[in-house]
Amino acid sequence: MDYCMLCVVLLSFLACANAEVVKFADCGSIEGKVAEVDIQPCPQQPCPLHKGQSYTVNVTFTSNVASQTSTAVVHGVVAGVPVPFPIPQPDGCKSGIQCPIEPQKTYSYVNQLPVKNEYPAIKLVVEWELRDDSSKDLFCIKFPVQIVS
Ligand SMILES: *[C@@H]1O[C@H](CO)[C@@H](O)[C@H](O)[C@H]1NC(C)=O
Repeated sequence: MDYCMLCVVLLSFLACANAEVVKFADCGSIEGKVAEVDIQPCPQQPCPLHKGQSYTVNVTFTSNVASQTSTAVVHGVVAGVPVPFPIPQPDGCKSGIQCPIEPQKTYSYVNQLPVKNEYPAIKLVVEWELRDDSSKDLFCIKFPVQIVS
């Protein structure tokens, strides 16, 4: 068996897949449970984020609670210090979630992560929370990324 050929086939399959399921850590989803996190494009992990580009993040989760609202809070954790990472649309109800949120329902939260040119080209951890009416986390996920020039 030609391993190189196999690699080429596997790599091109991965590159062509529509969205990449990424490995994530849960950082305290007390009001919900995350099933899957997809980032597009993310041809390898940690996801390389090119400056000046925007990435689609899709978090599929099931809520445990009812909530009228949902608000996203994103941080970049650099050397252990969380730095606010502004996103253009913090309202989860305008990011693929049909509000009010109902208990035991599954939602796909879909939003954009713009990578500004002034960001340093470093590795960091993105921490993404979605908070409910009482400011508790419907989900909190974190995943490593690599910002590239
Ligand atoms: C988000 O991911 C879920 C689960 O894979 C999928 O069913 C849904 O279509 C995705 N939504 C978008 C907009 O990509």
